[in-house]
Amino acid sequence: MKIAIGCDHGGLEHKNAIVEHLKERGFEIIDFGIYEQKSVDYPEIALKVATCIATGEAERGFLVCGTGIGMSLAANKVKGIRAAACSEHFSAKYTRLHNNSNILCLGGRVIGVGTALELADLFVDTEFEGGRHSRRVDMITDIENNK
Ligand code: RB5
Repeated sequence: MKIAIGCDHGGLEHKNAIVEHLKERGFEIIDFGIYEQKSVDYPEIALKVATCIATGEAERGFLVCGTGIGMSLAANKVKGIRAAACSEHFSAKYTRLHNNSNILCLGGRVIGVGTALELADLFVDTEFEGGRHSRRVDMITDIENNK
């Protein structure tokens, strides 16, 4: 599975830790930065990762900012993106099982690096359940398409 990732200045340590961890697990990572601690505008990074997922270049993505919320708001403006901001295990697992989310947004000022790695593992290891949840996810897509 190819994975896209990015962060702003609120999430650099977490992003780098996720990159290293998932590389060690054998995943191919496309890292959209940032690569050094400097202040940036999170929507720019969110757009890069979201576009990478929406075009099919990568299958799943991670975005880390201070809270995870700004990244999720920005990424969800891109057609085909279902980005979920999660800070605990249950939500990170169920947003895959039930929402077929394709981007997990994390808050570098909300959770520690250890938790971030566990949520990242859950997000890549959990498959969409389908069934009745497909209908509901399709309804989200219909809203996106103004149907
Ligand atoms: C940047 O200071 C901060 O606003 C950003 O990282 C994020 O938390 C936005 O949602």
